[in-house]
Amino acid sequence: MRAVDIITKKRDGGVLSEEELDFFVQGFTDGSIPDYQAAAFTMAVLIRGMNADETTNLTMAMINTGDQLDLSDVVDVAVDKHSTGGVGDKTTLVIAPLVAACGVPVGKMSGRGLSFTGGTLDKMESFPGYRVDLSIAQFKQQLQQIGIVLAGQTAELAPADGKFYALRDVTGTVPSIPLIASSIMSKKLAAGTTAIVLDVKVGVGAFMQDLAQAEELSRMMLSIAKRSGRKAVALISDMNQPLGNAVGHVLEVREAIDTLAGRGPRDFVDHCIEVAGHMLLLAEKTKTLADGMQAAQAAINSGAALQKFRELVIAQGGDASYIDHPEKFPAAAVVLNVAAASAGWIESIHAREVGLTAVGLGAGREKKGDPIDFTVGIIIKHKVGDRIAQGDELFSVHAANQQSAEMACERLVAAHHIVAQKVEPLPLFYRTLTQE
Ligand code: URA
Repeated sequence: MRAVDIITKKRDGGVLSEEELDFFVQGFTDGSIPDYQAAAFTMAVLIRGMNADETTNLTMAMINTGDQLDLSDVVDVAVDKHSTGGVGDKTTLVIAPLVAACGVPVGKMSGRGLSFTGGTLDKMESFPGYRVDLSIAQFKQQLQQIGIVLAGQTAELAPADGKFYALRDVTGTVPSIPLIASSIMSKKLAAGTTAIVLDVKVGVGAFMQDLAQAEELSRMMLSIAKRSGRKAVALISDMNQPLGNAVGHVLEVREAIDTLAGRGPRDFVDHCIEVAGHMLLLAEKTKTLADGMQAAQAAINSGAALQKFRELVIAQGGDASYIDHPEKFPAAAVVLNVAAASAGWIESIHAREVGLTAVGLGAGREKKGDPIDFTVGIIIKHKVGDRIAQGDELFSVHAANQQSAEMACERLVAAHHIVAQKVEPLPLFYRTLTQE
């Protein structure tokens, strides 16, 4: 078998066999197939697509590049959530401790920033010393001991995804339903997850631009879960405006800490409570979604969720004093506040533009492995549907220097659309899809 024949076959619209997919994924992972061929392959998949069998086979091939975790000796139900990626999406930092604080262990393998979206691992690394590269033995031990793990793909678990993910980020090959579905599901299945809540984002700030695409991606992932004997539910959620207020690593970590401490922005709190409620329901911890949401809210109110987050940071080597003293996090050199030039209602805050502006400030990568600036980012002060007066603060930009701050401000003013007539707020969720 030759890599070039597989690329050509997909380029011409062919259907790849299980053997071909195994050969390609294995070869890319062990280094015998170079990045440039893998880049051509992912572009061919992006353009031509894959059917359900191919996508499942691609997922299995990716899982087979590493070990599979069996968590049954440490937990009864391994529940997890995964978001398809959005702007200001720091939900894992809040939801994982929330659910763990309710007595359901969460062992999670997360990713790095992809394109204009931020990544959980990058955010957690804002804590000095925080380690994301745990061995399987460490992962299991920590899950058993404190009921929460937030780690990255290791060389042992789904290593193919780590390589494809970094390559896709810088080759324009992210927004492909089979590539996203196999990336997410290979990670989840390899990590031994038995029940998964999929948070599928839709809108201008998501990889899925409309509801039809989001439903197709949801169904694909639900079907892979079902074929693998796992329980799953997909929630289609809005990503037309950023989630919460903060975009950028340190800023988002600080917002997550505020949220766990009961001071989070309303939309972000409600989103986290609902996803956590679904996780508790899927794990059969509660009988109804309403009970699950109530339990999650109670974990914030009692301080149990913040305490669980503290345990997580300590267990993975991070400096937890930053949780109680967030002012210790490094800050950007320049902060500019921008006020509204006119009164009215906020009609839209273009989430993708906000995400790309954050990348432009240094919060994202241009090339594989590029360093990122943890301190830069944006605080959006309003939501779609808010009424504002002239001079009200619209957003603040945290930048490394004056020039990049000014450029970001210009871009963000254009990303806010203010109109004279009343505008309805955006919903948080559009649809819930189950395996039935
Ligand atoms: N999240 C993932 O884990 N993979 C993708 O491809 C997109 C979002």
